[in-house]
Parts: sequence; structure tokens; C-alpha cells
Amino acid sequence: MSKSFDVVVIGGGPGGYIAAIRAAQLGFSTACIDEWKNDKGGPAPGGTCTNVGCIPSKALLQSSEHYDHAGHAFAEHGIEVKGLSLNLAQMLKRKDTVVKQNNDGILFLLKKNKISFFHGRGAFAKTVDGGYEISVTGATAESITAKHVIIATGSNARILPGAEFDEQLILSNTGALAIPSVPKKLGVIGAGVIGLEMGSVWRRLGAEVTVLEGLPTFLGAVDEQIAKEAHKLMTKQGLDIKLGVKIGAITKSKNAVTVNYTDAQGTAQVGVFDKLIVSIGRVPNTIGLNVEAVGLQLDERGFINVDGDCKTNLANVWAVGDVVRGPMLAHKAEEEGVAVAERIAGQHGHVNFNTIPWVIYTSPEIAWVGKTEQQLKAEGVAYKAGSFPFMANGRARALGDTSGMVKFLADAKSDEILGVHIIGPMASELIAEAVVAMEFRASAEDIARICHAHPSLSEATKEAALAVDKRTLNF
Ligand code: FAD
Ligand code: NAI
Repeated sequence: MSKSFDVVVIGGGPGGYIAAIRAAQLGFSTACIDEWKNDKGGPAPGGTCTNVGCIPSKALLQSSEHYDHAGHAFAEHGIEVKGLSLNLAQMLKRKDTVVKQNNDGILFLLKKNKISFFHGRGAFAKTVDGGYEISVTGATAESITAKHVIIATGSNARILPGAEFDEQLILSNTGALAIPSVPKKLGVIGAGVIGLEMGSVWRRLGAEVTVLEGLPTFLGAVDEQIAKEAHKLMTKQGLDIKLGVKIGAITKSKNAVTVNYTDAQGTAQVGVFDKLIVSIGRVPNTIGLNVEAVGLQLDERGFINVDGDCKTNLANVWAVGDVVRGPMLAHKAEEEGVAVAERIAGQHGHVNFNTIPWVIYTSPEIAWVGKTEQQLKAEGVAYKAGSFPFMANGRARALGDTSGMVKFLADAKSDEILGVHIIGPMASELIAEAVVAMEFRASAEDIARICHAHPSLSEATKEAALAVDKRTLNF
């Protein structure tokens, strides 16, 4: 007889494993199926995020920033480094160790929560009385049944026709995180989050990086003022960002990739690169789920069709994370996973899409929550803006990292915070205060009246809130 569970989660990325943990906490017998393999063929739960996304990219961003600082920033602090050299193999090894620590941590958490883990591919077999039969194909093949199914199968890198990934010369995020020697010339198609983060890593390690972006605007989803500042700073660092290009034929020779493109002025250009990263967005992954067996509906873009509560068209089948609409972010996937498990338990799980923070881990970091100034203008919302530069913050000066600012947008009448945008040191950590404030529907004045530790970067947040009312104290 096949094993049966209250909840079966297909996919062990941040959406899936967190949903499984919450379901188990709520008393459900729970299974999690994940097919990711480590280099020895063993289980490597954590999905894109842990294996080829958030975690390894942040490990390399950290390592490459240390290297960059040792080469360029330490001298200002009176620290002289002689004979600085890069051991890329060690840097990549460390990144792999960090990934493995996370894989092992997740396996431990699944065990701790008494979740049955199946290493293999999960697919719908058929509907059975009171649930679904799921086949698992891996080292061994077996069938399990589920009353509730949570699909969290994530996403894959979008392929640019004519530039299919070979992970040797034309790289997705997977190859971009494992280049064995620093390319002299690195091409990047797409100036989005991956393009800028990975472009920054390899530039810091010595590559000449050219980023080719199709849109005429840089970081269109980011507040314009912040995006402008980011463009200025990243260009100064050495990223050659070409906007408004049209990519033409891409050809490969043994050791190089040639990209024909038309620049914003309409002039034909040719770029020859040692490696090419293609980072033009991601597509939902439903390969191998056998959705036809049960009639699970996808939308026209291949995402699993869900309502606001992550319910699919099938009774007791839910979907979360990158495989459904909304931002492709690990913390969004996690929040949806928790909310779905709670809904299965009859509770009122909730995800507030208005307060999902975004972070781009370049240097300086860019982080934001809520509306941008251009969105408020387009929506005709009357607002007040206030900003404060890190240049005027004592802690930033002491750190030697004074680029960027904190910017607040608040409702013109009620003073409610509508958006907070940060470019600067530790923006990824500073944004948490803004998320809390917006979750509690705080006003800019609320933040301005809160005592912030001195000297700290968070004082820039307080000062930006004060700036909304034109009463900064230190600027
Ligand atoms: P995934 O993490 O993709 O996990 C899906 C899992 O399901 C995978 O393990 C897959 O093998 C498994 N699977 C798929 N189909 C089946 C099946 N049929 N049977 C069994 N298993 C299956 N987000 C952030 O918030 N912060 C960041 O800093 C960040 N950095 C990123 C950097 C890069 C380079 C990339 C590519 C992405 C980054 N992201 C980041 C995005 C983040 O990785 C995703 O939003 C997140 O992983 C989505 O989680 P998920 O659980 O929906 O899917
Ligand atoms: P993206 O959507 O962030 O950026 C893709 C860029 O490619 C866009 O600027 C787009 O205009 C451009 N583009 C698309 N087609 C093009 C073409 N044919 N020619 C030239 N340019 C083209 O996607 P990206 O960078 O691939 O990342 C995917 C997702 O992964 C992100 O949207 C984000 O959700 C997630 N992610 C999150 C991170 C974080 O939270 N720090 C880090 C990395 C990824």
C-alpha cells in the first residue's frame, strides 16, 4: 500500500520546504519531494535559492567585495596590503561549502519536524478518493497519496533564442556562479538583478564587464532617483552598461562568444566576449509535474493559475513561489508557503504584497519597499518626499562608505509611509525597519520620533523620515 500523507509538497526550495515545516508544525503528516542533486548525486534541498541563487550569489558577492576592498579601500584606512592575489578556486570552494551547509541545514530541519523527504521527481499520477496519487521517480520509484498538495517547483532561467545555455561559454545563473577562471571580457545580456549582481562579482575579480540591456531605462522597477544614482555609481565602478540595445545574432567559436547588437542610436555593434551571461528573467517550472493527469490549469505564460490565496483550479491543490504570479523572491515564496499551510489548517494565512521588500546586493546595495515616486505620480497620489544622504551620516563616514541615500515617500495628507527606497551601505538590513513601519501603517513622523542608536546607519532612515517634513537635523 502506498504511504499516505495529509500534505505532500512538491519542490524543496524556500517555498516548498518552509510550507512543509509549517504544515508539520500544524500537526499534519507531511512529505516533501525534491529532485535537486548535489555533485555526488545525493539530495540538495533548498532549490534555486540555496543551490544556484540567493545563497551562492551572496557568498561570491561577499568574497569579491573583500577582494575589492583589499585592493582599493583598505589603503584609506591605513592598511597596506602587499602581494594581494586571488585564489579563485578557494573562493568557489568556500561558496560550495556555504551551499552545502544550507542543504544540510534544510535536511536537518525536515528531519527535526518529522517530515518524510523523498529525493526524486514528483508528478501527478491520478486523482484518488479524497486526494491525489503522486508518483516519485528517483533512486527508487514509489507512489504516495496526499489529501493536500502544495506545488513549489520554482523557475528556470529564460533562454534567449539563438543563445541556448551550454554553461561553458553561454551561462545561466548556474554557470555564472562557477566560472573557473576570471574571464578577461565578460558579456551580460540583461541589466536586471542577476546581471548586475553577477556582473559586479566578476568585475571586482578583474573582468571587463559589458552589460547589454534591451530597455532604454536602467532598473525601470526601481525608484527613478535611486536608479539614476545606481547607474552613476556602477558606471563609475567600471560596469559598461549599454541601454536600449537590440540583440542580433550570437555566434560561438571555441573560446569566445560574439554578440551582434544594435545600440540605442541604431548603429550596428559587435561584442566579443570570453563568457556571456544571459540573465533576461526566469520562467516557471512545471516540467515533469504531469499536470494533464489531473487537469491542473496553467496560465498563458506557463505559471500555475492561482487565486489570491494560492488555490489552483483543483480542490486541495495549492501552488506557491516562483511557479505562480508575483515577484520571484525567496521570501515571497516562504510567506506564501506559510500562509497556505495555515489555510489548510483552517487559519487565515495572509501575505501582504504591498510590503514585500526587494534588495539588489550590488555595492552599494539597493533596497526598497512600497511604491516608487513614478508609480505614485502615475496613480495620481498626492505625496511628500524626503531624503537623506549617507554622506551626512557619521557611521557611514566612519565605515568609509558614504555613497547613496535613504528616501521616504509619504501620503501628502495622512503622512502614511507609501514607499521607502535606499541605496547605500547595508540597505538590505536597513529596509527591515521600513517594512515593519509599513506593515503597521506608520507615518513618516512615527519613524522620525523613534530613538535610533548613534552612530548608526539607521539614523539616516530617521533623518529621511524627518526630511519628509523638511526638518532634518544633520543635513
Ligand atoms: P525554487 O527555489 O526554484 O525551488 C524549486 C525546487 O523544486 C527545486 O529544488 C527543484 O529541483 C524542485 N522541483 C521542481 N520540479 C520538481 C518536481 N516535479 N519534483 C520534485 N522536485 C521538483 N531571491 C531573493 O529573495 N533574494 C536573493 O538574493 C535572490 N538571489 C537570487 C540569485 C540568483 C542568481 C537567482 C537565480 C535567483 C535569486 N533569487 C533571490 C530568487 C529565488 O532564488 C527564488 O525566488 C526562489 O528560489 C523561489 O523559491 P521556490 O521555492 O518557489 O522555487
Ligand atoms: P530581471 O527581470 O531582473 O532582469 C532581466 C533584464 O533583462 C531586464 O532588465 C530586461 O529588460 C532585460 N531583457 C529581457 N530580454 C532582453 C533581451 N532580449 N535583450 C536585452 N535585455 C533583455 O531578471 P534576472 O536578472 O534574470 O533575474 C530573474 C529574477 O530572479 C529576478 O527578477 C528576481 O526576481 C530574482 N532574483 C532576485 C535577486 C535578489 O532578490 N537580490 C537576485 C537575483 C535574481
